[in-house]
Amino acid sequence: MSENNAILKIGEEELSIPIITGSENEHALDISKLRGSTGYVTLDVGFKNTGSTKSAITYLDGEQGILRHRGYSIEDLASKASYLEVTYLLINGKLPNQAELDTFDHDIRMHTLVNTDMENIFHSFPTGSHPMGQLMCLVSSLSAFYPGSLNTHPTPERQLKTITRLLAKMPTICAMIYKKKWGHPLVYPNNSLDYVSNFLNMTFGQVTMNYETDPVVADAMNKLLILHADHEQNCSASTVRLVGSSHANLYSSIAAGIAALWGPLHGGANQQVIEMLEKIKADGGNVQKFIDKAKDKNDTFRLMGFGHRVYKNFDPRARIIKKSCDEVLAKLGIHDPILDIAKELEEAALNDPYFAERKLYPNVDFYSGIIYRALGFPTEMFTVLFALGRLPGWMAQWKEMRTEGQPIGRPRQIYTGEPARDFIPMKMRS
Ligand code: SDX
Repeated sequence: MSENNAILKIGEEELSIPIITGSENEHALDISKLRGSTGYVTLDVGFKNTGSTKSAITYLDGEQGILRHRGYSIEDLASKASYLEVTYLLINGKLPNQAELDTFDHDIRMHTLVNTDMENIFHSFPTGSHPMGQLMCLVSSLSAFYPGSLNTHPTPERQLKTITRLLAKMPTICAMIYKKKWGHPLVYPNNSLDYVSNFLNMTFGQVTMNYETDPVVADAMNKLLILHADHEQNCSASTVRLVGSSHANLYSSIAAGIAALWGPLHGGANQQVIEMLEKIKADGGNVQKFIDKAKDKNDTFRLMGFGHRVYKNFDPRARIIKKSCDEVLAKLGIHDPILDIAKELEEAALNDPYFAERKLYPNVDFYSGIIYRALGFPTEMFTVLFALGRLPGWMAQWKEMRTEGQPIGRPRQIYTGEPARDFIPMKMRS
């Protein structure tokens, strides 16, 4: 291996493979010419060792527990920035100055309403429909209300308008879904409120009385949205990029990301964690029994909220959220017994060789649901809140991919099916 090349030897053939080095000294083998030169493709089911793109948005170091957005640490952003500042940072690559933030905030406030015809779609959902299915459908339907978003080569101004519209309408749609669950009348956006307070007002406000945003709740929501804002090439962000690479419109690409996030192995885990903790509580609180189930290969039970494809030390977001849990519940005067169970479960797991050997630690989903619950959200809304937070990250990834003019994503495969065979007429078939 020379300084910038690796040598791949196949039989007697040798191929020089360029080595790519990123700004944080990560290395990759650039195999973009592999098939043309050797006829070989690589195989990496689940992409555990495969980079799909270069990106300047988010940096993770799974061993050190580092998460940075455009170079700023998640610890700094979660404690010093507003969610709107982080949103601007992800999408534009820099922290906004005051004038830029004011313009960004104003433009978003001007687009918070959704077309009232959307309410017809909304009211056609059966009561009890899962909120993530509703969110996916309603976000996708925006392409019907804003056909200009279908332009496959939008000008930067048109692209910014589409991005701004979705940023503005996502909280409105999420709040509508919450109201639907209770059969309550919708509370429309109040554009005199900031982004997070407006969302809380649409969610918890009532048409019959004024809702005062509790600053503790608003601060916790701001922090949780920041902690979910982006996470490089996770399952849902990769889905958004893949769908967007076919030049599908932004709304459809984001709807696909919502679908991917819904899965219990991904964003859906935050709902599963609470259901798991409730189950442990109902079962008498014996955490060791559930630790043993999680270790049993014959048992499909997994410790939800534990483990991560990248973090093999600790998820920095989980540390921040765990600390926030104690603060928020104390400030709200709430004692939630499942927080005690969660801490006991974490303690037991971290002292168990099975989890230590596999480097399984609490991830972002392990404690987040406990705060969401304390803020008044029902469990099945938790993944919707994850999507609300992740929206700017998905859009930043989509914008980067489109701006760079990346080709349509189309992985190869290794065929393992039947060799060529003759067609069998119906009367000859067994
Ligand atoms: C998110 O990618 C991202 O960045 C995602 C995310 C984001 O911000 O976008 O961080 C958000 O999705 C967080 C993850 C939420 N999901 C969960 O909490 C579900 C529970 N965790 C897992 O199912 C699992 O840990 C994954 C899906 C998160 C990671 O799976 P991997 O990397 O494919 O690892 P694996 O399934 O191959 O597991 C490796 C070993 C296996 O044991 P062995 O076969 O080696 O004996 O660890 C075991 C697994 O059985 N294992 C677990 C476990 N997670 C992994 N055993 C028990 N409980 C678990 N939770």
